Amino acid sequence: APQWLIVPAAGRGTRMRAACPKQYLLLDDRAVLACTLARLHEAFPEATLLLCLDAEDQWFHESMVPFARWQRLDGGDERVDSVRAGIDWLAAHAHSDDWVLIHDVARPCVTVADLHHLLETIRHDPVGGLLAAPVTDTLKRQDTHQRVEATVARQGLWRAMTPQGFRYGVLREAFEQAASEHFLMTDEASGVEQLGHAPLLVTGRSDNLKITHPEDLALVAQILRAQQDTSRL
Ligand code: CTP
Ligand code: MG
Repeated sequence: APQWLIVPAAGRGTRMRAACPKQYLLLDDRAVLACTLARLHEAFPEATLLLCLDAEDQWFHESMVPFARWQRLDGGDERVDSVRAGIDWLAAHAHSDDWVLIHDVARPCVTVADLHHLLETIRHDPVGGLLAAPVTDTLKRQDTHQRVEATVARQGLWRAMTPQGFRYGVLREAFEQAASEHFLMTDEASGVEQLGHAPLLVTGRSDNLKITHPEDLALVAQILRAQQDTSRL
């Protein structure tokens, strides 16, 4: 099991255009944040959670956290800054070969099976990897008039998801290099790639969606209900 979980949850959810950040919208009476943490806890009950929240967050409540060991940290302006708060906190607590899993609070549909599958796949690797799904849509590249310039071969292309799991030492180095070279890390893997490592692509379920736009909320609620029904069979 991973020793450490970092959950960036300091976003404002501007694309969602809701009255509160999307991690506090309700999915069948439970906040998205509580749903996501429940899945992580079910998979890794012994892990320590580092929860990165906006310092001015008015919606968070401790009852949303099922972990016995957890720590609240102040997030930053961008996702990468929020994750960095976790990486920095770990400097005094983690060993360089400890596993650190980073998971977006906005992905409540990640399954326990996929969480375990990710860990099983990376556990003997010196670097780590991420859940991802092969691209299924045909991809188009646009010209300057937003007309199709070309069809892009989708062979070998994947959608990167979370969790992303890496050894603490590798993450530390990635964050240090990104800071010194002013490289914007859109996900942890991209920072690790900059070091010259090749993260493992671990096939995950395609329904591990990130709530981003208003129409995603009902879809995610539906996915969660379907997953709960099948697990009762
Ligand atoms: N996140 C964060 N700190 C930030 C920005 C984002 O911790 N400064 C987190 C979000 O809470 C989310 C994840 O990073 O769990 C992915 O970000 P995204 O989907 O972009 O969420 P938001 O930034 O909240 O949404 P938007 O970009 O629409 O404002
Ligand atoms: Mg964002």
